[in-house]
Amino acid sequence: MAHARTDLLADDIDAYLLAHEHKSMLRFITCGSVDDGKSTLIGRLLYDSKLVFEDHLAALEADSKKVGTQGGDIDFALLVDGLAAEREQGITIDVAYRFFSTERRKFVVADTPGHEQYTRNMVTGASTAELAVILIDARKGVLTQTRRHSYLVSLLGIRHIVLAINKLDLVDYSEEVFRRIEDAYQSFAKEIRLERIMTIPISALRGDNITEPSSNTPWYSGPTLIDHLESIEIADDTRSRPFRMPVQWVNRPNLDFRGFSGCIAGGTVRPGDRIRVLPSGLESTVSRIVTYDADLAEAVAGQSVTLTLADEIDLSRGDVVAAASRPPGVADQFEAHVIWMAEEELLPGRPYLLKIGTRTVAATIERPKYKVNVNTLEHTAARTLGLNEIGVCNIHLDRPIPFDSYRDNRDTGGFILVDRYTNNTVAAGLLNFALRRADNIHWQAVEVDKQARAAIKHQRPALIWFTGLSGSGKSTIANLVERELHHLGRHTYLLDGDNIRHGLNKDLGFTDVDRVENIRRTAETAKLLLDAGIIVLASFISPFRAERQMTRELLEEGEFVEVFVDCPLDVAETRDRKGLYAKARRGELVHFTGIDSPYEPPDSPEIHLDASGAASAEESAQQVISFITAAGIIGS
Ligand code: ADX
Repeated sequence: MAHARTDLLADDIDAYLLAHEHKSMLRFITCGSVDDGKSTLIGRLLYDSKLVFEDHLAALEADSKKVGTQGGDIDFALLVDGLAAEREQGITIDVAYRFFSTERRKFVVADTPGHEQYTRNMVTGASTAELAVILIDARKGVLTQTRRHSYLVSLLGIRHIVLAINKLDLVDYSEEVFRRIEDAYQSFAKEIRLERIMTIPISALRGDNITEPSSNTPWYSGPTLIDHLESIEIADDTRSRPFRMPVQWVNRPNLDFRGFSGCIAGGTVRPGDRIRVLPSGLESTVSRIVTYDADLAEAVAGQSVTLTLADEIDLSRGDVVAAASRPPGVADQFEAHVIWMAEEELLPGRPYLLKIGTRTVAATIERPKYKVNVNTLEHTAARTLGLNEIGVCNIHLDRPIPFDSYRDNRDTGGFILVDRYTNNTVAAGLLNFALRRADNIHWQAVEVDKQARAAIKHQRPALIWFTGLSGSGKSTIANLVERELHHLGRHTYLLDGDNIRHGLNKDLGFTDVDRVENIRRTAETAKLLLDAGIIVLASFISPFRAERQMTRELLEEGEFVEVFVDCPLDVAETRDRKGLYAKARRGELVHFTGIDSPYEPPDSPEIHLDASGAASAEESAQQVISFITAAGIIGS
């Protein structure tokens, strides 16, 4: 007997697991605030799908009685509000993902707070969702936040919308109220190109039209919320697109097998399909689709597989395998929507790491063309983007990447930006299109090159970069070094921060954004002068490591010589010739380096000068000349 029972159980479990495995999955996001009944709705979905555990349930019933907001009935919001309250106070707020399932489908619901300061969280939750439930309080109708949520949902490419008009019990289940809100929303939705919208009248609290059709809304003949979530067709959206698979790794266990593994980001693949690898453009044919269990006759978006190809072609991590007939584009300049997610603002011109699919490249973001007011959808001018701001910017990469526009494929068109030093994710981005302007500009070959120009001056071009606080003595030392080099008959040029700010950079101030641009332009100018064969000296506070590093990377190996003019703040302050420290201390000058704006000292400069007063400016200059000579920049 016991034996038979175990068998039965085993059978049942297998059958159950099998059924569960073959259920499709829907990822959705709920948009609204606690006031709109969002927590109550999620609590109700979890409760009605019986995925709340018995002990939770007992506690919930007890809590509901104790809190008493629902007169002894269950307060579903308590199921989720514990966490919500914590989140809405916290600084590091994540997205809460909840799982539940019904007979027909599995669900993952992303729950994010609805306030504007949580835009980045909503963006994170929405980026993987296929459907959005936008909650409206029937008493209030379409609000500013409804517009904001809808804009974000549209921007992030969610194509299926449920407009859940909630709290209908509080307006006497009025059809007129329902229709009025529906009409108002539909006309707004058209403006932002939201299409497939299903409007459902509900009361999350009373359970109207959640799982059972409600007798309170006889005028409504559409599906209940659960019916709709269970039956809406989503999979075709991604499967019918052109095939894309970013390669995660090259699987080569032995010499006889070479497979390319990754998760399919769009479309369908079958053995025999013609594919093209990007960015190389090489083509081949799929031989096998290998998985852990067995070879497949077909694989679709969302599946992780290993492909083998008919030809031995060069392919590595970060490449994209795509349908040969409909390949993605390849480019290194784009227009993109950028959603800023960090406390520190965007610094146009600074290199960030851009991660797209399985590829990481260096990227700089131009000053935004405009930013979008997420509440009114107005476009306004912007120099930068702050936390939770969304802008449209041109971006430049250090090499070409395969891509689709985000509208066509969220995986091959969506990216994140990462700070190179802190490794924090600072932004999410959506590629709009490639900029073709670079296609028509070619590098012009010239016959007299940098080496030839330098050779007649008997020197090797270099950039001697002096960095340090205001008053550290940079300009004094740089001036002495130039005088000596000139005396030795070398061809030099001195770029000085104060002087450049009288001309080329006179439009720039001292905010972080402007300082980054100040150094970027100076670095490009220096690069041209180096190409002319000249030894360039540059004297700039250049307070940020990232831009000094950027300048180094712009040049050839050995051309950048970083000179740290190391002077303690209190000493620099006593040399206050221009009276600027005094002004800054009095609060008459803001963003002053060392006072209310940071200075990041170099980690390993080529030359470290003690500028505290221990050595004279002449001695320091001599130290630099010795380095220049030893490095072969000038012949001795
Ligand atoms: S940087 O930070 O962008 O590299 P840069 O070297 O060009 O600065 O200019 C610094 C010079 O501008 C200083 O020597 C000082 O004379 C002047 N200055 C005026 N306002 C400021 C400020 N807020 N911070 C630093 N320097 C300032």
